[in-house]
Amino acid sequence: MRITVIGTGYLGAVHAACMASIGHEVLGVDSDADKIAELAAGRVPFFEPGLADILGPSVRSGQLRFGVSYPEAGHFGEIHFICVGTPQLAGSYAADVSAVDAAVERLVPECTRDCLIVGKSTVPVGTAARLADVIEDLAPEGCSVELAWNPEFLRESTAVRDTLHPDRLVVGVASDRADAMLRMAYAPMISTGTPYIATDLSTAEMVKVSANAFLATKVSFINVIADICDVADADVVTLAEALGLDSRIGSQALAAGLGFGGGCLAKDVRALEARAAELGAADAVAFLGTIDGTNAGRRRRAIDIARMLVGGSFRDQNVAVLGVAFKPDTDDVRDSPALAVARAIDSQGASVRVHDPRAIDNARARLPHLNYVTDVEKACEGADLVLHLTEWGEYSELDPVALRAVVRNPRIFDARNVLPLDQWLAAGWTTRAFGRRFPQAKPDEVSNPVGAVGGLSPGVAGIAGVAGVAGVAGPTHARRSWCEEGGGPCGCW
Ligand code: UGA
Repeated sequence: MRITVIGTGYLGAVHAACMASIGHEVLGVDSDADKIAELAAGRVPFFEPGLADILGPSVRSGQLRFGVSYPEAGHFGEIHFICVGTPQLAGSYAADVSAVDAAVERLVPECTRDCLIVGKSTVPVGTAARLADVIEDLAPEGCSVELAWNPEFLRESTAVRDTLHPDRLVVGVASDRADAMLRMAYAPMISTGTPYIATDLSTAEMVKVSANAFLATKVSFINVIADICDVADADVVTLAEALGLDSRIGSQALAAGLGFGGGCLAKDVRALEARAAELGAADAVAFLGTIDGTNAGRRRRAIDIARMLVGGSFRDQNVAVLGVAFKPDTDDVRDSPALAVARAIDSQGASVRVHDPRAIDNARARLPHLNYVTDVEKACEGADLVLHLTEWGEYSELDPVALRAVVRNPRIFDARNVLPLDQWLAAGWTTRAFGRRFPQAKPDEVSNPVGAVGGLSPGVAGIAGVAGVAGVAGPTHARRSWCEEGGGPCGCW
């Protein structure tokens, strides 16, 4: 089939390359001419494992092309996938769908053949129904242009595999024709048994945001359980393993730590909360606000623990930060918990050195004043505290004995619960993690003692103040995960 992909960021570039790799003729369109020039040369302008391997050959064979022209797209495509971003609106929890609107409004008048427009962007429920009316108004005479919605579930870092071997395909369609076209587009996946669920537009929109909200709920759930483990002397890693073996629960998204970040989970939870508020679903608003508030609390709690580990103040303390990407195997630092913690600790007076295998350029672009190094040993030289904030595989291979020789004080906080801390302990390090049972530094936490509020951790106590009522009017300061004041008097961290 002849397919266009409008928007060539993480989602669109992967989708375009994967569609070409399964035999479609694909044209990727984006208004960013620099990005298009890179992609047209067969280069991927961000780090995504495996993407260059499938993109390059398709570009060279001509199966996959890139351009900036909507008239060309309108002339070319039988199916147009809309893959533009829907970030959080400034000053609100709602999603900004203006790029989706703009893509549709620019594309539809250029369509010169019968075609299907398929939204993949994550949007508030009701957006597709509204756009269907827009399309009806704008479609050129004699040209049948229809809308479908086909949410995407790929994760950064495994995006190619998730696209080519999805757990399921979900399509919201208004006609048999649209259903048939999408079945044809995804024929190779369907033929190998991928479940294909055809439903209405609203349900398809809701499946996507509900999936992200559920993943976020699991992460926030295990994080509050980690807080209880901390005070109850139980081990959250073993607990999560045992929970995950229950097939009704499943083992994924149960890694306790610094919480979720990135361009999707928090943004989608907030957008769902905002839409629920518009629709009058008060219980949903309260529930989703708690998930988001719990997550913001992880960052504050990590900073409190780090401060405790260096004796109550970051002044004159050297802190090594290992990892600033929002998760491993990506260079994406959008809403990165690790970068937020690094920034706050720096603003509270620590001398911070930051290492990341891939994300330094993006981190520097956002926070140029931090000190970035390309070598772990260099980051740890003279450190009073090592913070393990993003669980890149290479950090699990570090030699605690060798690293002990370069730091000033051997203290490590594994905020992602993956390091072999027994080995670090044996090498003479003071160790700390979230909700672990092995011997670790647990004096009263200086600024916010665990158990200070009715036996709850500071994170949980903090949430009580924002949950339930949050979200209707717009962001409350305490829940903002990326705060301009960063560690200042706002106490946002
Ligand atoms: C997420 C969803 O997983 C995808 O299904 C969805 O398509 C995508 O958002 C999207 O809407 O575009 P992604 O943001 O790439 O994908 O990352 P995840 O792997 O879900 O991780 C999100 C965050 O949660 C990361 O910061 C990660 O460190 C954190 N996390 C994840 C945990 O803290 N614990 C876990 O157990 C799992």
